[in-house]
Amino acid sequence: MIYMDKRSSRKRMKREARQRMTTAEIRGARRTACVTGGNGFVGSLLVKQLLDRGYNVNATMRDPDEAKVSHLLNLPGSERLKLFRADLTTEGSFDEPINDCDLVFHVATPRLFDSEDPMSDMIEPAVEGTLNVLRSCAKTKTVKRVVLTSSTSAICRNPEIEEGRVVTEENWSDTEFLLSEKPPNWGYGVSKTLAEQEAWKFAKQNQIDLISVAPVLVTGPSLTPQPPPSAILALSLFTAGKESGLKTLQEVVGSVSLVHVVDVCRAHIFVAEKESAYGRYICSATSTTVPELAMFLSNRYPQYKLPTDFGDFPSKPKYPVSSEKLIREGFTFKFGIEEMYDESVEYFKAKGLLPV
Ligand SMILES: NC(=O)c1ccc[n+]([C@@H]2O[C@H](COP(=O)([O-])OP(=O)(O)OC[C@H]3O[C@@H](n4cnc5c(N)ncnc54)[C@H](OP(=O)(O)O)[C@@H]3O)[C@@H](O)[C@H]2O)c1
Repeated sequence: MIYMDKRSSRKRMKREARQRMTTAEIRGARRTACVTGGNGFVGSLLVKQLLDRGYNVNATMRDPDEAKVSHLLNLPGSERLKLFRADLTTEGSFDEPINDCDLVFHVATPRLFDSEDPMSDMIEPAVEGTLNVLRSCAKTKTVKRVVLTSSTSAICRNPEIEEGRVVTEENWSDTEFLLSEKPPNWGYGVSKTLAEQEAWKFAKQNQIDLISVAPVLVTGPSLTPQPPPSAILALSLFTAGKESGLKTLQEVVGSVSLVHVVDVCRAHIFVAEKESAYGRYICSATSTTVPELAMFLSNRYPQYKLPTDFGDFPSKPKYPVSSEKLIREGFTFKFGIEEMYDESVEYFKAKGLLPV
């Protein structure tokens, strides 16, 4: 079942949202945004970009222990940042951080790819957590728009997609296929698909102005103390050569599609602030394959002597991913593949993960 908002109810919601915004402006308040999972790879950079834009930010995390949040406390503008303890699996956990907010960015999700029990470790918390967050949004009258971080794992994991077809926001991953066939990382695909579908259903029933952003594999330098797994995966041709996990990624989603974390966060804020934005937005700067990427990286960084012969592994995306809708809305990507990898390589060198 696909749940999408309809244009007519969107117009009404926008009118109501404008009225709520006016109230916020009359109060003379700065706009306040809540970021769930505000200590993660995407979440912490989103917090930074929002602070840079002058927002007050309420960031949630399970453990706001000082050692784990120093990367947030040292941000410019951190006097406008409040940290809240909140767990996706605890009903009402998000009431306080969301209360009085103008915008909510629901970023948090369990990304436990090695879990032996994806149903209880990923799927249930992602779905229940998303509903918990939206219930908190429905309780407060101030929330103008909710931006949900989805994933192309909620879009591309469907054996019915014809080879060569460009994947767009109209596509949905097939949860029945994932649950029965259990291909690699099936639990994450199910968690992101069901969480997003339940979000659309709840938003429609409760007149919440919801937008989803579905990034492809996110890379680039992280504010978090440890390099994030997705950046490690994106650089795995350097660190694992022919054993790169990007091969599995290409097998399960049909391409190696990449985006810089700065652009992911810019896209979240762009759709939150752009009044005409609606529905789902794929966020992908480039769609390629392991053999093509290896050739590109080998030419650009010859010192790392990357493998380039991948035999008959497909050199064209089975289904390329398109961000056409986001671009048509007026968004421009700052980072192409060159800049994305130049920054990532420097970051990995600084972290001691690549030789200087
Ligand atoms: N990175 C990618 O390549 C990529 C691609 C597409 C979509 N996305 C989406 O982007 C979002 C952020 O991903 P990321 O790469 O930034 O991952 P991340 O660094 O692992 O961040 C995930 C966040 O979710 C929080 N979280 C996990 N389980 C939770 C729970 N039970 N209750 C409350 N918070 C919980 C984590 O907090 P703790 O510190 O408490 O664990 C963390 O802040 C996710 O929605 C993900 O699906 C990521």
